[in-house]
Amino acid sequence: RVEGDTDFYALTQRVADVEILPGVRTQVWGYDGSFPGPTFHLRQGRRAVVEVRNSLPVPTSMHLHGGVMPPDSDGYPTDLVKPSGAKQYTYPMRQRAATLWYHDHRMDYTAPQVWRGLAGMCLVSDAEEENLPLPKEQYDVPLLLCDRAFDEDGSFLYPSLESGPGVQPGYDNGVLGDVILVNGAPWPVMDVDATRYRLRLVNGSNARRYELALEPGGQLTQIGSDVGLLDRPRTHESLIITPGERFDVVVDFSQYPVGSEITLTNRLDGPVMRFRVVRRGPSSDPLPERLASWEKLMPESAVETRTFDFRATPHHGMRMWTINGEPFNPDTSLASPRLGTVERWRLSSDFHHPVHLHLAHFQVLARNGRAPEERDAGWKDTVDVRPYEVVEVLARFEGYRGRYMMHCHNLEHEDMAMMANFDIS
Ligand code: C2O
Ligand code: CU
Ligand code: CU
Repeated sequence: RVEGDTDFYALTQRVADVEILPGVRTQVWGYDGSFPGPTFHLRQGRRAVVEVRNSLPVPTSMHLHGGVMPPDSDGYPTDLVKPSGAKQYTYPMRQRAATLWYHDHRMDYTAPQVWRGLAGMCLVSDAEEENLPLPKEQYDVPLLLCDRAFDEDGSFLYPSLESGPGVQPGYDNGVLGDVILVNGAPWPVMDVDATRYRLRLVNGSNARRYELALEPGGQLTQIGSDVGLLDRPRTHESLIITPGERFDVVVDFSQYPVGSEITLTNRLDGPVMRFRVVRRGPSSDPLPERLASWEKLMPESAVETRTFDFRATPHHGMRMWTINGEPFNPDTSLASPRLGTVERWRLSSDFHHPVHLHLAHFQVLARNGRAPEERDAGWKDTVDVRPYEVVEVLARFEGYRGRYMMHCHNLEHEDMAMMANFDIS
């Protein structure tokens, strides 16, 4: 439904039986009964109101990852939609073109509920992006990567559905599956024309990191980061993508002979999907040298410096994933940045922790005191913090006042309390 500058959508969370592995049925908890959920196409300047109805047997909270919205539409972990209930989420869409995704965020149960299927993509467009000669329509392909494990009867296998507090023994790394799914299909093969494609890579895995590369060879030309286009394209031999991160890349399949097969592989593990070049494609424009223009944040603009240490610590006799020694407490806040300011946040870690901020987008300033890596370029909302690393970011707190959060996007770490509030005042 359309009304003035607002578009209305309805989304029903429900149980459905789908075929993921050939010949067996898998029960999913899906948005509109599908896994992943429907892909939203939103437009800068057009407000989106999504009415989420919950037909699942459990409470849920939907979060639009990378979205800039008032706190009551952020999908706070205790802001629940009860079974048979409904809630309207409002997304003002005063933000740049970007590849966002949405997923469940229920307190203590985000990991098992996302694992069961509650995730989908949301593509935001704007005029700046539209005017660039980038691959469009069927040549613009969102790819949601995740891993899952299956039981013999085809059902999703999650090891600790009744996850208690504390770090579950054996699951320090989070929960990994042995089947790689792309848009819900195991190791798919995609027929492509010999031309340029824009692939919007989203890591929707609970815990798996990927180092993506093309085999037998080829470049991933990055045009966008988590929350929008880069200033200019950057080429990579491989790209590390951690849970929650997005990379927007262009692959030129005209580099390969018709009939060839190219594998998108995870160098840390194994194949993800294949592309089969089936026919000659339309010739496409070379990528522009300049993409989007935006302000590069300077460290001098930071009005405050704060340190957040992501680490496993003993807490009341239990080992827990904490931030600054504190497991998540919905009633306390670790920082109160002021609306409209930039702060320098130092994120340190004992382990692999993909750190994600709600609402605030940031630019990576340094890794261990040195210049950031190529893959850190652009505006981001999630950053890979590796063991014993200190990643410094400049975050802009823009849009709305109120309570938001940061957390580790390893969803098991998140459920095990590696999460904290910040309050924008
Ligand atoms: Cu994608 Cu708070 O998460
Ligand atoms: Cu988020
Ligand atoms: Cu973590």
